[in-house]
Amino acid sequence: MVSGLLIALVTSSYAAAQSFVSDPLVDKIVPYTAIPYQVDQHTADRGPQHGYNICNSTTEGQDSLCQTGYVNHLDDFCLFAPPEPNTAIGAAEGIAVSFCTKPGRGTRLIPEGTLKGVQLVQSPGYVQIAGIIDQTRLNIASGDFGGELNSGGQDGRGNPIGGLIYSNAFPSNGGNNDTFQQSRRWTLFIGNDAFCFKACDDTQPNAKALCEHIYDRIGCTYNAPNTAQEGIFERCSGDDMTPVGVYTSDDGQTLTWTQPPESLGPITSVPYTPTPAPTSDCVRYESQELYSQLNSVIAPGASDTLTASGSGATGTATSRNGGGGSSLTAGAAGATSTNENANVAAVYHALSAVSIIAAMSGVLFSVSFLA
Ligand SMILES: *[C@@H]1O[C@H](CO)[C@@H](O)[C@H](O)[C@H]1NC(C)=O
Ligand SMILES: *[C@@H]1O[C@H](CO)[C@@H](O)[C@H](O)[C@H]1NC(C)=O
Repeated sequence: MVSGLLIALVTSSYAAAQSFVSDPLVDKIVPYTAIPYQVDQHTADRGPQHGYNICNSTTEGQDSLCQTGYVNHLDDFCLFAPPEPNTAIGAAEGIAVSFCTKPGRGTRLIPEGTLKGVQLVQSPGYVQIAGIIDQTRLNIASGDFGGELNSGGQDGRGNPIGGLIYSNAFPSNGGNNDTFQQSRRWTLFIGNDAFCFKACDDTQPNAKALCEHIYDRIGCTYNAPNTAQEGIFERCSGDDMTPVGVYTSDDGQTLTWTQPPESLGPITSVPYTPTPAPTSDCVRYESQELYSQLNSVIAPGASDTLTASGSGATGTATSRNGGGGSSLTAGAAGATSTNENANVAAVYHALSAVSIIAAMSGVLFSVSFLA
């Protein structure tokens, strides 16, 4: 039991209700070899897709509006983040663009000094990458507690709208880095200077449960339990996590907790404390072995010098990302609560709200933005 007192303030403003589309992103099978210019063709409500999905040498650079991303390897992944500096995730959830660790994908690159510790866990069902970041270098406002981006979204169009994710690392891909499989079920919590990105393998039977995205208010600690730490860059094998919300009670029953709607007020307790699934064969790297191609990529407004990103990165082992298992963290909240049920979505997302949950320990806070 996570004890105590999660205090939530709900301030609110109202946004127009968004209807749930009949062709949600999560159902769109888009082979890597057949990516359209824009996978989302809607124009109503939240407007057209902000960027595009065909990304190539023409689109590559720090102005790219590419909305196709990858979850491949420790040295090869992307994050979605706001296109303009100093933006809250909640304000940019629909228009976030792809920032990657490798050139050649038609995207922006993650600026030097952003990645302060990264852990990749490869399980049978998914690839999970979690880390500690300087989020201001990814255009995320300092102090923003962020939220959840995923392939659902309040209207089924995804956050970002039309965001596509591919991987060459699922076991079902047979280790071939040159072929990419779509992940239709993925979640990315980003904010509070941390992230956790989980891309599930659609060919595995439990993809939906392992990448469930209806738990947008309880962050990485629950959605992607991990042991990422500042100063550590490692790749591990792991077991699949227990699906979010599923836990064993004191008397041995398997129970499922469902996140209550925001209309019922703050989440004051969750009936279980998640623990990261067992990992093995962890291999650590120096950041320069992984990300040297980012050394010359300067974040807009970054005032420090290149040396900040440097190798080594022997920081203090500060885990903001659930290592202790007792804290709510990293965008614990919800840029999007993505019910796949249209009616539920319409009801809960008519309200644009900010919830602040503060763990009693005082260590962590999380904020929910429903835009
Ligand atoms: C490169 O990407 C742009 C933007 O998506 C697209 O319009 C263009 O057709 C692409 N070029 C090639 C050669 O595929
Ligand atoms: C695939 O790429 C990763 C790094 O991105 C590398 O470690 C791995 O060896 C590659 N696999 C193959 C089969 O080349």
